[in-house]
Amino acid sequence: MGFWWSSPHKTIHYLIKLSISALLVGLAFRLIHNRSSAVSGSLFLENTISADSQENTDHLPTKEVGIGSEEKCNLFHGVWVANKAGPFYTNGSCNIITEDQNCMKNGRPDSDYLYWKWKPRGCELARLDPGRFLDLMRNKTWAFVGDSISRNQFQSLLCILSKVEEAVLVHHDENYKFQRWFLPLHNLTFSLIWSPFLAQAAVSKDNNGVSTSGVHELHLDSLDKSWTEQYNSFDYMILSSGKWFLNRAVYYTNNTVLGCHHCLNKNFTELGFDFAYRRVIRAVLDYILTSSHKGMIFYRTSTPDHFEGGQWFEGGTCSREAPVQEGQFELSEVNKILRDIELEEFGKIIDKAYENGVDLRLFDVNPMSLLRPDGHPGPYRFYQPFAKDGKAKVISDCLHWCLPGPIDSWNDVLMEMIING
Ligand SMILES: *[C@@H]1O[C@H](CO)[C@@H](O)[C@H](O)[C@H]1NC(C)=O
Ligand SMILES: *[C@@H]1O[C@H](CO)[C@@H](O)[C@H](O)[C@H]1NC(C)=O
Ligand SMILES: *[C@@H]1O[C@H](CO)[C@@H](O)[C@H](O)[C@H]1NC(C)=O
Ligand SMILES: *[C@@H]1O[C@H](CO)[C@@H](O)[C@H](O)[C@H]1NC(C)=O
Ligand SMILES: *[C@@H]1O[C@H](CO)[C@@H](O)[C@H](O)[C@H]1NC(C)=O
Repeated sequence: MGFWWSSPHKTIHYLIKLSISALLVGLAFRLIHNRSSAVSGSLFLENTISADSQENTDHLPTKEVGIGSEEKCNLFHGVWVANKAGPFYTNGSCNIITEDQNCMKNGRPDSDYLYWKWKPRGCELARLDPGRFLDLMRNKTWAFVGDSISRNQFQSLLCILSKVEEAVLVHHDENYKFQRWFLPLHNLTFSLIWSPFLAQAAVSKDNNGVSTSGVHELHLDSLDKSWTEQYNSFDYMILSSGKWFLNRAVYYTNNTVLGCHHCLNKNFTELGFDFAYRRVIRAVLDYILTSSHKGMIFYRTSTPDHFEGGQWFEGGTCSREAPVQEGQFELSEVNKILRDIELEEFGKIIDKAYENGVDLRLFDVNPMSLLRPDGHPGPYRFYQPFAKDGKAKVISDCLHWCLPGPIDSWNDVLMEMIING
C-alpha cells in the first residue's frame, strides 16, 4: 500500500478501498487498544488538535551559533516573516516540479503563501545563494534518501540552483523512484533514493500465509541496501522516514515474524508503528555511528500534515492562506509520536557521534513546517480541479508541499548548517 497519490490512475478506486479499511481498522483498534500507536489506519494522519501536546525540545541537541552578541541562534525555532522578494523560481522557470506539487500550474488561486521567509530566533537566516552553494559543492555527491517528501525537498533545491545551473537527469529507474542528476559545470551529482522505511521492505504480492496482498513486510533489523550499498560514495546525505510506518505491516527480525501493525492475521502480536519506527531509527543511527563516513549526514525529522475538519478521507482540507504563530497549530497525535521517537533516539547517540568523528546532524524542520498550514497543495494536487464544477468534491493533499513554497526555506537552513557548522 503506497501513498494514494503515487498511483494517480488508480486513485479513486484505491481511495474508496483505503478509506473504508482505514476507518474500520482505526475504529476497531481504538476499541481494543487504548494506545496511541493504533490511532491511524493508514498513511493519513488524524488531525487531532490535542491540548497536551506541548512542544518540548529542551533535550534537543541544537547547534547554537553566536551572532555577534550573547544572543544564541536556534535555526529551527522562530517565526515566518513577510518577504516581498517572493520565491526564487516559478512553475515556469523550473520544469522539474512533480505535477502534484505544482500548485501554480494546477490553478491554486491565492499566492500570498509564496511571500514569507523563515526568521530563526536570535539570528537572521540568509536565503540560499545558489552561486555560493554550487562553488562549495564542486566535485561533490549528494543523496536524498526517503519518501516523497524527500523528493519534494530535492526538487526545491534543484529549482533554486537552476538559477545558476540546471541539473541534467542522467539516470532513472522505470518509475523515477531512483534518479541521478548531474550539474556538469560544477561536477556535482545529486541522487534521489527511494527508501520510505530506510529498512528492507517489500510489498506482499499475494496471500502467502503470513501477510496479505498489499501489506508491507518490513525487516526491522536489516537496512535497505538501496542506500547502504552506496553509502560511502556520498559526501552529503539527507535521510528521513516516518509516515510510511503508519501503514499496515508485518514485522520481521532475523527473517522471522515478530509481530505486526494492524494485523490481519490475529496470531501475530500488534506491536504498533512506534515500536517499528524506533527499532529502525536505532538501526539507522547505529549504522551511521559505526561507519567511517567522512561526509555530512542529516537526519530530517518527519514533517507535519495539516488536515483540518477531518482526516483526508473524511473531507479534511487545508485552505488557510497564511502562516500561523507557534502554539496556534498543534501536531497531530501520530506526528507527535513520530517526532518524539526521532528526538529521543537522536538525543541518545549524538554525543557518541561526535566522539566517533561522524558528522551527523538533526535537520529538525518539523517545528517551522508546522507553522505553514498554508503551504500544501490541498485540492490543487490535481490539475484545475474546479474547472468543470466549481463545487466538485476533491480530496485534499495537506501533507506534501507546494513548489515553490515553504520548504524552499528548508534549503536556506541547510545552506546555513553547511556554511556555519
Ligand atoms: C504556471 O502557472 C500559471 C498560473 O499561475 C499558468 O498560467 C502557466 O501556464 C504555468 N506555466 C507552466 C509552464 O506550468
Ligand atoms: C568530478 O568529481 C569527482 C569526485 O566526485 C572527481 O573524482 C573527478 O575527478 C571530478 N572530475 C572533474 C572533471 O573535475
Ligand atoms: C575538482 O576536481 C578536479 C579534478 O580532479 C580538480 O582539479 C579540482 O581542483 C577539484 N576542485 C575542487 C574545488 O575540489
Ligand atoms: C536467526 O535464525 C537462525 C536460523 O533461522 C538461527 O540459527 C539464529 O540463531 C538466529 N539468530 C538470532 C540472533 O536469533
Ligand atoms: C493461527 O494459529 C493456528 C494454530 O497454530 C492455526 O491453526 C491458524 O491457521 C493460524 N491462523 C492464521 C490466520 O494464520
